[in-house]
Amino acid sequence: MEMKGVILAGGSGTRLRPLTRLVNKHLLPVGPYPMIQYAIQKMSQAGIQDIMLIIGKQSAGLYLDYLGTGSEFGVNLTYKLQEDAGGIAQALALAEGFIQPDDKFVVILGDNLFESDLGKYIEAFVNHQYSSMVLLKEVDDPSRYGVPILDGDRIRMIEEKPADPKSNYCVTGIYFYNGDVFDVIRTIKPSERGELEITDVNNRYAAMNRLAYRILDGWWTDAGTFSSLLEANERLS
Ligand code: G1P
Repeated sequence: MEMKGVILAGGSGTRLRPLTRLVNKHLLPVGPYPMIQYAIQKMSQAGIQDIMLIIGKQSAGLYLDYLGTGSEFGVNLTYKLQEDAGGIAQALALAEGFIQPDDKFVVILGDNLFESDLGKYIEAFVNHQYSSMVLLKEVDDPSRYGVPILDGDRIRMIEEKPADPKSNYCVTGIYFYNGDVFDVIRTIKPSERGELEITDVNNRYAAMNRLAYRILDGWWTDAGTFSSLLEANERLS
């Protein structure tokens, strides 16, 4: 079956200021390429051709200059503008229409850089007919991330940036959904920081015992801080 992809590349990149006052985080250099190119490559390698890129107003023209239609990268890009930064789930909601109710699709947060090929995870998601699936990674500092409480092959709950993490796993920014995710997003309310949180969306699935997971192979980093951006540069140079 044809999978589609959504890459979220807006946001204000506060932890990378002042660099991100100049240019959007996802256009910062990582090795020889702007960060955004890696998520596109990962999707392209996994056979995903139709990709929606959700960007903010900042640097919107630069994305078009560099990526164009996507043909140079073997993909077909559609762009959508997230007018104000209202959270990952709000950004994802903008892909409704591009994603049809019966579609299955992959979401990558554009600052998530990783080694593994996505093909086998896509296969698992499709073959098992999961409603939703996330990829987990063991990390030293889980309290920076969403942390899952595991229950066999399902996730019972995800705690977002817990002071007292219940496992050493983090939920990476690589998610798999069916087209019904947009109905789920409509049921959640903004968090204390005023954003629609992807963790609240995933927890709706978890509460129905419908959130599956796999452990991501190889290295992984989210390049949202100066130290992780440096790590990403070292790995990808
Ligand atoms: C987001 C998610 C978090 C996840 C992380 C992965 O956090 O809310 O659950 O672990 O991405 O990159 P953020 O980086 O927006 O703080």
